[in-house]
Amino acid sequence: MANIKKVAIIGASGNAGAPVLTALLDSSFEVTAITRPESKATFPASVTVKRVDITSVDALTSALEGQDAVVSTLASVAIGVDKTIIDAALTAHVKRYIPSEFGANTREARGTKLGGILKSKIENIDYLIELSEKHDWFTWTGLSTGSFFDWSFRAGILGIDIKNKTARIYDSGNEPYSASTLSFIGKSVVAILKKPAETANKYLTVASITATQREILKILEEETGSQFQTTTVKTSDLENIADEKVAKGDGSAYVEYVIQWVFADGAGHAVKENAAKLLGLEEEDLREEIKKVLRGL
Ligand SMILES: NC(=O)c1ccc[n+]([C@@H]2O[C@H](COP(=O)([O-])OP(=O)(O)OC[C@H]3O[C@@H](n4cnc5c(N)ncnc54)[C@H](OP(=O)(O)O)[C@@H]3O)[C@@H](O)[C@H]2O)c1
Repeated sequence: MANIKKVAIIGASGNAGAPVLTALLDSSFEVTAITRPESKATFPASVTVKRVDITSVDALTSALEGQDAVVSTLASVAIGVDKTIIDAALTAHVKRYIPSEFGANTREARGTKLGGILKSKIENIDYLIELSEKHDWFTWTGLSTGSFFDWSFRAGILGIDIKNKTARIYDSGNEPYSASTLSFIGKSVVAILKKPAETANKYLTVASITATQREILKILEEETGSQFQTTTVKTSDLENIADEKVAKGDGSAYVEYVIQWVFADGAGHAVKENAAKLLGLEEEDLREEIKKVLRGL
């Protein structure tokens, strides 16, 4: 497969998109950011910016002409749009599509309650598989990254609140879970694009860190010299809350289901085959990454 040089990114101003954009620029790809006409996002001068109605296949097709790859880091609320972008990428003869995954392994989540909430992501991968089987020049790579490690502390999700020195410990707090820092996610996307043959038509799972909540808490307490106030939460209770939300059509059930998916005792969702190796990337040191988080607060 020919080298990938021209890359279009959609959602480049977002939580995942910004570090992916930085990594693409650091690796000398020719980058085009596709952004919505109403977006207030701004981009570095070296990025070609196209303001496009992302719900229009025709508008997207002309915006994607000449691109070698498309990376979608679209917001969760807009994941349904990925299918439109896939259609446009196919029409524009783009060779590689990376859909907006960047979280739990949606292949594993198929058929589960979390999978129900992630239905659009699962359907997008199914669609990419179907298209790549029909057109041998069209390829895709799915990238599951686990939780966004550094971002999760800043966003105050996943239980640990560093500023207020509190921690919600889910079940025993001893279930290993996998996560990736935002910079690692950027490097992973770059590595996929630099290894087009090895990564074609594959669903890859990467993680730069695998740890338990209690291991993280211990390091946080050592590094801050403070004891955190902990409360224990049963993930089975969270599941009940999420079920009630789903019955009312409340999509925020995602939060409780994902916490259960990640942290429940015996969940077994820490990365099994870390594709970091295939991508030539090293895992990161837990204490060093926690220190960086603390410095960034
Ligand atoms: N594993 C984790 O811990 C974790 C955490 C967060 C997100 N994720 C996943 O990462 C992917 C990207 O999420 P994100 O948090 O990075 O996205 P985000 O920051 O919320 O949004 C990314 C971009 O999507 C574009 N967009 C298109 N339609 C939109 C709409 N209707 N509302 C808002 N933005 C819209 C915007 O770009 P323009 O303004 O340029 O158009 C926006 O900057 C998703 O698949 C999400 O599920 C995973």
